[in-house]
Amino acid sequence: MSEVCLFNPYDPAFLADPYTTYRTLLNQAPLFKLPADFLQRSLSDTDWCLSRYEDVSLALRDRRFVREWENAKPAQAQAEAAANPHPTPPPMLQTYFAGMNSMMLFRDPPAHTRLRTLVNKAFTPIAIESLRPRITDLVEYLLQPLTSGSQVDLISEFALPLPVMVIAEMLGVAVADRDLFKSWSLRIARSIDATLSDPQVLQEAAEAYRDLSAYLKDVIADHRRHPREDILTNLIRAEEDGERLNEQELLSSCIILLVAGHETTTNLIGNGFWTLHRHPDARELWREQPEWSTSAVEEILRFEPPVQRTMRYVSDTVQMGDVLLSRGDSVYLLLAAANRDPAVFANPDVFDITRKPNRHLSFAAGIHFCLGAPLARLEGEIALTRLAQSSLVVDSDVPLWRNMTVLRGLEALQAHAE
Ligand code: HEM
Repeated sequence: MSEVCLFNPYDPAFLADPYTTYRTLLNQAPLFKLPADFLQRSLSDTDWCLSRYEDVSLALRDRRFVREWENAKPAQAQAEAAANPHPTPPPMLQTYFAGMNSMMLFRDPPAHTRLRTLVNKAFTPIAIESLRPRITDLVEYLLQPLTSGSQVDLISEFALPLPVMVIAEMLGVAVADRDLFKSWSLRIARSIDATLSDPQVLQEAAEAYRDLSAYLKDVIADHRRHPREDILTNLIRAEEDGERLNEQELLSSCIILLVAGHETTTNLIGNGFWTLHRHPDARELWREQPEWSTSAVEEILRFEPPVQRTMRYVSDTVQMGDVLLSRGDSVYLLLAAANRDPAVFANPDVFDITRKPNRHLSFAAGIHFCLGAPLARLEGEIALTRLAQSSLVVDSDVPLWRNMTVLRGLEALQAHAE
């Protein structure tokens, strides 16, 4: 590819520092058209990158922007697809695509509304706040062995196990199997990272989906025989206007909770502690005045978002500034760029845990606004307040970012207790 592309998530420099790219886009091309075929897995002929807060926010809230290609596909593409059908993928990949496409994140109303309403019952702010004592205990349990003084990896020993233990307990799956969830979940998350079009990544995700499904089917069967007080039992029982979740939806709802429920929160904790390492004054303020906890977590979410972007398809013509978006176009919504838009955030590149207001888009907005946001915020607040107060210090100034560009997180973070 000879053309220089202002937005190039394949460039290793982007992984190290995506924010320079976002600043260039905001300044020079807030509605940026990607070169043709730049993203190999795109279904659209035209792909746009939106970085301005106002545009990203509009696309997240406006019903002309949809998640299902079927609801945006131009008539011509339908005719072409009918004339030249794609080769049928192998059965395992078909099952994987069907499972992923039945997740609420990838559905439009009315299916989205039904799925979200049923799952949402377990995620009300009151239900989540009741988990505070348990999460605090888990934080102490995981931190205790890390304070001996020897070097530890905070990601594998703390930031990864905490969210997976919480969501496993909430769902009612065995916490002891958390290493299995971790590897299945990571492989599925990698396939969602749109920049990775490697067939091997897709194959591994499909295998992980198959194995996780087989595991969960047994757990679901056991919950049907022996109902208990957890989300899975509630989902099995859940009825909204007489409609239950079918088996496929039940399975994919559990899978999205397991995957979304820990890859992202792990990154919130890891990115958060890394950012505090880079800004010792902020850590000091947080340690001395823990009343800043809530706003500090919001600032970490704005400054180093665990989910850097999402996407939508355009289902109807939209005039955006000078640009006319057409049915069938896709738009990449750079949440992390919008969080640095100087039109909304004063000194956007400054990390300020006292920032108010802080209407970042790290949990998106509109109908797909992160369902797990209250849980992520609670886990982030408890874990990071405790880490800020601890004697743990980071041992390296060179971060090791995971090779993913939708989810941004550290592969490892070596630290020791002083
Ligand atoms: C949706 C971010 C934690 C479950 C989303 C979306 C974002 C996001 C940006 C919307 C994507 C879009 O509109 O295309 C995050 C971040 C988290 C986090 C940054 C942690 C810091 C969680 C947790 C759970 C969760 C802990 C559940 C246990 C979900 C679900 C959706 C979602 C189910 C789909 C909602 C829908 O389609 O209506 N998340 N998330 N997330 N998140 Fe989270």
